[in-house]
Amino acid sequence: MPPDVITFSPDKTRKSISHTVPVLQLHEHDHDSLFEHVGWVYAFCREHLFRDDTERIIAALWPNAGPDAGVQLIELGCGPGFYSRQLAERFRNISVTGADRSESQLRRARERADALGLSNCCFKRINALELSCVDANFDIVIASRLFTILPEQNRVIAEVYRVLKPGGRCLIAEPRYAFWASIPLFAMWLLGWLIRFRNGYCEPYKATVFSTTAFENLFPTQPWKNIRIWQEGRYQYALCEKG
Ligand SMILES: C[S@@+](CC[C@H](N)C(=O)[O-])C[C@H]1O[C@@H](n2cnc3c(N)ncnc32)[C@H](O)[C@@H]1O
Repeated sequence: MPPDVITFSPDKTRKSISHTVPVLQLHEHDHDSLFEHVGWVYAFCREHLFRDDTERIIAALWPNAGPDAGVQLIELGCGPGFYSRQLAERFRNISVTGADRSESQLRRARERADALGLSNCCFKRINALELSCVDANFDIVIASRLFTILPEQNRVIAEVYRVLKPGGRCLIAEPRYAFWASIPLFAMWLLGWLIRFRNGYCEPYKATVFSTTAFENLFPTQPWKNIRIWQEGRYQYALCEKG
């Protein structure tokens, strides 16, 4: 399906694709996020320290050939847009929406996508707990490391299920070890304390990681047609298909 509208972002210089997904308004309390204030720390970790799973994501989603032209993909909690950007660059015939709550992360993501001249990739302020889009809107949903900091994971899975088209698939990647997963959070908290401390920040001190069983139990909360769970090194993955 082709994108709904071609728009220009507010700076009037960047051509981007809009999928008629309403975006969130920024509220005062949303500023109390480490990803707003010291998000560059996370972006640095994402770019230079964390494992790049792009090839694994591609192999899991499209093991035989690439995606069909026009595939609509959304990444929840995209942060600085690492995977959205990589997938949009690799597959110029698909439409990618990076969704995050942090405006600062989204700004960074847009800058990088602009630098690559990506016109099939847009970044929007969307709450993963309450996706502001109609049912059955996307072919693919991906989320990486989102549950490390976001509670109410069942709610996210329900939203993922809702916005997927029949036959659509989601790929969730989560770290397995709290110590390693908490390093960026710890660095952000440390810096956050140094530069500003008012009411604190909404992120936890320590990353949430799932045991193998807890991770497996997360997905049957929705009536998926297929669920595949596997582990590779420090990460675990779930690939679910909607019937
Ligand atoms: C640990 S980072 C993961 C970033 C990226 N996916 C990656 O693989 O590195 C989690 C991201 O989720 C975002 N986030 C947290 N709660 C959210 C929510 N309710 N809706 C959308 N994004 C959210 C944060 O702003 C942050 O950018």
